[in-house]
Amino acid sequence: MPSERPFIIVAIDGGAAAGKSSTAQALSGRHQLLHVDTGSFYRTLTLYLLKRGIRPDEPGRIGKALSNPAVATELRGREARMAIDGEVPGEELRSGEVNAQVSGFAAEPVVREFLLDYQRGQAEFARANGFSGLVMEGRDIGSVIFPGADFRFFLEADSGARSRRRSDQGQEDSIEARDRIDSRRQSAPLICPEGAIRIDTTEMSLEEVIEKVSALIQSKTA
Ligand code: DC
Repeated sequence: MPSERPFIIVAIDGGAAAGKSSTAQALSGRHQLLHVDTGSFYRTLTLYLLKRGIRPDEPGRIGKALSNPAVATELRGREARMAIDGEVPGEELRSGEVNAQVSGFAAEPVVREFLLDYQRGQAEFARANGFSGLVMEGRDIGSVIFPGADFRFFLEADSGARSRRRSDQGQEDSIEARDRIDSRRQSAPLICPEGAIRIDTTEMSLEEVIEKVSALIQSKTA
């Protein structure tokens, strides 16, 4: 009898444009994992709140606005997308306005609290949809959301390389400003958790990063 493959959780953390999404996408295909981009969840909430005229420094109004919406998960290819009040936002999640405001909202404990169980619940969603595990990317996955993940990676690259990557994607983004806010906030700051595998991607091609991470996963699951 063939042995059943174990369900694995892969956490990828790191600053903006460190290569997390492209790596997670590739791993998702190679290892049959649900791809969960938690930055897109923070972006979805940011858009929802901005559309209601709410700013990041208004925790009272944020809390009130987040007491109503119905959230669900929809599968798009191998990716988990957050639906809020029945809608899955598209390209607007990457607009200059969302890029500029998302770190401010993500620093608010009420926002992080709102997403905590939803993010952990993605493991159940992955099982229910027949995946062999999930690869979740963000800032606090290996430290707060899944500290017991089977694999925890922390990707980093110097800010020049990261800014080039964003402008190659045609996006307006203040990488350093966002990282400053994400690293200095009180609630679940961006850190490389103890025991995570740190990879500096500055001088590496995307393929090299994917090969390295994938080989580490393969070596422990094959
Ligand atoms: O990965 P991204 O650039 O799309 O993330 C957008 C913002 O969301 C990022 O600046 C900080 C926040 N974020 C977070 O605080 N925690 C996560 N797990 C993921 C993202």
